[in-house]
Amino acid sequence: MAKARTQFICQNCGTVHSRWAGKCDGCGEWNTIIEEDPTGGIGGGPARAPKKGRPVALTTLSGEIEDAPRIESGISELDRVTGGGFVRGSALLVGGDPGIGKSTVLMQAAAALSRRKHRVIYVSGEEAVAQVRLRAQRLGAADSDVLLAAETNVEDILATLSEGKRPDLVIIDSIQTLWSDTVDSAPGTVTQVRTGVQAMIRFAKQTGTAIVLVGHVTKEGQIAGPRVVEHMVDAVLYFEGDRGHHYRILRTVKNRFGATDEIGVFEMSDSGLREVANPSELFLGERNEKSPGAAVFAGMEGTRPLLVEVQALVAPTSLGTPRRAVIGWDSARLSMILAVLEAHCGVRLGQHDVYLNVAGGYRISEPAADLAVASALVSSLAGLALPADCVYFGEISLSGAVRPVAHTAQRLKEAEKLGFSRAVLPSASTDLPKNGNGRLSEMETLPDLVAQIAGSRRVLQQAEEAD
Ligand code: TYD
Ligand code: MG
Repeated sequence: MAKARTQFICQNCGTVHSRWAGKCDGCGEWNTIIEEDPTGGIGGGPARAPKKGRPVALTTLSGEIEDAPRIESGISELDRVTGGGFVRGSALLVGGDPGIGKSTVLMQAAAALSRRKHRVIYVSGEEAVAQVRLRAQRLGAADSDVLLAAETNVEDILATLSEGKRPDLVIIDSIQTLWSDTVDSAPGTVTQVRTGVQAMIRFAKQTGTAIVLVGHVTKEGQIAGPRVVEHMVDAVLYFEGDRGHHYRILRTVKNRFGATDEIGVFEMSDSGLREVANPSELFLGERNEKSPGAAVFAGMEGTRPLLVEVQALVAPTSLGTPRRAVIGWDSARLSMILAVLEAHCGVRLGQHDVYLNVAGGYRISEPAADLAVASALVSSLAGLALPADCVYFGEISLSGAVRPVAHTAQRLKEAEKLGFSRAVLPSASTDLPKNGNGRLSEMETLPDLVAQIAGSRRVLQQAEEAD
């Protein structure tokens, strides 16, 4: 028999090293490499001689599918991100910062499903039964038939799940607390979590139960510890939001059974999470229409249009190197827009601090926001407020050209619904609505936009000289 060797595994990315090192070559993180006993590690089972394989029956693509493949919760924001409900026999990972509301949303989903006569088991490894009950009372879920266990041992959990009628949905809160007898490493290490998750996934595939796994996320935005887990599961959702704000966004990152660009919006109240059916109204709720530096972006999140306010503050700097601070958008893209403004529009920002914020703690990932960002920047620099009833969207290329983006008609429709009668958009947009009554300014290049906002470029230069 081969001599048992220990492995050194990075707790951040899962790279295996032959010896300990301070820095992981795989992901560049420091102090993340831990010695682990690989017995049973990779494969999940205890180390023994490989048994002779047995042939499995091959089958065809067509054929009967038992049960409805999806279990709908009836919470439409949640069903939207899962792609129409939890999928039987699949594993779903819900990640998010501690305290963001993962346990809350899952308890609400569990209660909703059990009211629809599904058998739901909630396994809490972090909280005691009394704590979970307390939360359930607060959520008005205490009278539902959700079955509850406080357990962290993988073998015990599996034995419990295999008893009695097959559950429709099992929630494991959280994977970081799972531990298996077959592995020597401490709970929370890569090997433990991987073994536990693998056992749960195997159970899901064998029985057709939908499994939801909760995972914590580190500051850097990764599921704490094993990123490998993200590859093992069928779908990954992130629950995000700003602590200072009430609303929370459930975002699909990976989905083997649906689209990956959907979001669900919730509002945290004292009796749990409430669905927000029209997020645009929420994100535009606290607008101050007369202040310079604010532009409304008509964005898309998956299949749904969403209006958000982009706020910019451009102020003369008192430092040698001006500050650029961004919340809710990509800072590299901001640098790009600033460079295009300087190079093609004569807008000099080298002596100005630039702050950019997306209102309400929302995060934009679309390049279509370029035009709104540029408008907000120019508006702030010039000290001129943008028209209150206008939305902006379009991508800006390095040459200063404004490039068309998808879903023009949907963006305009949402804007019109919320009382915006004007739009600034790329000139080559194809799917323009035929009978829209809004006023559209089609922009070909960024200098055109700058000229439009500032009235004339001279106004802008005067504003600059006055600084
Ligand atoms: P929780 O679901 O425990 O977070 P996680 O499981 O992601 O760690 O949510 C905890 C936070 O939510 C906590 O700060 C309190 C708040 N909360 C409410 O505001 N209202 C509620 O009804 C509940 C249950 C929690
Ligand atoms: Mg929790």
